[in-house]
Amino acid sequence: GTAESFKGKKVVITSGPTHEPIDPVRFIGNHSTGKMGTAIALELASRGAQVQLVSGPTLTYPKHRNIQVTRVTSAQEMYEAAKSYFVSSDIAIFTAAVADYRPGEVADSKIKKTEQNLQITLVPNPDIAKELGAIKDKQFTVGFALETDNEETNALGKLKRKNLDMIVLNSLNHDGAGFAHDTNKVSIFDKHNNVHHFELKTKTEVAKDLVDLLQQALNE
Ligand code: C5P
Repeated sequence: GTAESFKGKKVVITSGPTHEPIDPVRFIGNHSTGKMGTAIALELASRGAQVQLVSGPTLTYPKHRNIQVTRVTSAQEMYEAAKSYFVSSDIAIFTAAVADYRPGEVADSKIKKTEQNLQITLVPNPDIAKELGAIKDKQFTVGFALETDNEETNALGKLKRKNLDMIVLNSLNHDGAGFAHDTNKVSIFDKHNNVHHFELKTKTEVAKDLVDLLQQALNE
């Protein structure tokens, strides 16, 4: 892609896991590393976009003059931050592995161990992609899907439900693809029923493919 093809475009990207607090020292989380979000942020930044990366807790964060990182912890915080940038964005890309539930109550002090079972009631988190999809006007929105069965049907269902323009389906039926790996095998669907299938590639190369399609779509 050309160096300035996204010049003047504002992009918000959600990335990484969320941590949902149980008490002051414990949380519910997942194994997302934020690699896919980081790769997309760097690819767009290198093509001149202004990127707001809203990231849950990860080990590293990208450094680029066109990327501003907002660090968040919980899904609720990620939603608030993403929403604040979304309103003035041209493009939103939802790569984060957002926890679907959080503890309904966060204990003020460390929960003590006893001999009894411990129950924690979980309440649903906001679906960031869905909530923002419902209020979008000009924004071009992209989501991700990780499916084990009925991959295509489920991905297309998500595309519709979350009012997305494009969805990236991660194939889990492949070694080296998905969570915490450096490679991904994806198919990309858009709302006009176009589909592109890609080979197993590094996340950097997947980001290039996605941004190429994004560039095409925005030029149409
Ligand atoms: O419904 P599911 O979690 O499979 O959808 C995945 C897509 O929705 C991803 O793009 C993910 O970032 C986004 N998502 C979100 N907020 C949630 C759950 C998922 O933005 N609470």
